[in-house]
Amino acid sequence: MRGKRRASITAAATLLVGASALLSIGPAVAGSPWGAGYFPNVPLITQDGTVVHFYDDLLKGKKVAINLIYTSCKRECPLETARLVQVQRLLGDRVGKDLFFYSISIDPERDTPAVLKAYAEKFHVGPGWLFLTGRTDDITLIAKKLGLSRRSDALTRDGHGASLMIGDEAGGQWMMNSSVDDPRFLATTISNFMGWDDRQPGRSYTEVAGLPTPDTGALVFQSRCGACHTIGKGDAVGPDLAGVTTRRERSWLVRYLRAPDQMLAENDPIATALLARYRDVPMPNLRLSDGEIAVLLTFLEGQAP
Ligand code: HEC
Repeated sequence: MRGKRRASITAAATLLVGASALLSIGPAVAGSPWGAGYFPNVPLITQDGTVVHFYDDLLKGKKVAINLIYTSCKRECPLETARLVQVQRLLGDRVGKDLFFYSISIDPERDTPAVLKAYAEKFHVGPGWLFLTGRTDDITLIAKKLGLSRRSDALTRDGHGASLMIGDEAGGQWMMNSSVDDPRFLATTISNFMGWDDRQPGRSYTEVAGLPTPDTGALVFQSRCGACHTIGKGDAVGPDLAGVTTRRERSWLVRYLRAPDQMLAENDPIATALLARYRDVPMPNLRLSDGEIAVLLTFLEGQAP
């Protein structure tokens, strides 16, 4: 996917790349230029069908985390939403109280409130996070004003970067992050940026994503798959992968991990049945290298009961 940074395969690399992606737009200044006169107060509609105004209802005086999505994205974007759900869990009940998450659709014609609502439910999104649609022109303007359309082709499929804009409207501070970074890193970055000194996120990282181990396969699994899959802890966004290497043939798994979207397009019966069963959230094409696929399968085999 053009414009998307590949997530790195080790936690350490994730932290380094993430740190260099930080882009602070500037310190708070009296009479911040990023206020009512800057952000459009255009109407948007939430996943529950409520009309809200972008500046007055969503930004004014609030701390926010905003990204662009579209629900029919079959590539890396589902990972963004799954990652942000992990961040939401790490931040605990701050979300909805001290911080608001907004995901704005760049495909507003297809992404009706009902479609957005179903999407949020599929990903087990918690309270304090609105999915928004509206008029295309208004959304284009919002994306531009938020600096989320810098990659010029914001409204073309896959043209948006996996960026997360974090803002403190009252303080006039905004910061761009990658929304597919390590969730613990993102949660800590948000807490630091907001000046919250409690180092006490809602849930520990180990509960959310499984304990990191120095095994490469485990690290790849954790950074690329753990947002959607568990091994032996039940279904999440995708199926529990315990025993998957015994229930599927290795050659099928290799092809599936390399290009699940292509297998669907070719009407592979297993891929089609899985998609139907997991409520139409497709397994994303994560552009895994052959090396990543090999270490992942070795890791998954080692987890077989
Ligand atoms: C954004 C969520 C998401 C991510 C990230 C993700 N998956 Fe999936 N995966 C799914 C969903 C959903 C399905 C069910 C099939 C479908 O709906 O297309 C699935 C299906 C699978 C299957 C088939 C399971 C079976 O019972 O046959 C395997 C294997 C799999 N994923 C492995 C992985 C691996 C390995 C990674 C990391 C490299 C990964 N997935 C990352 C969502 C995800």
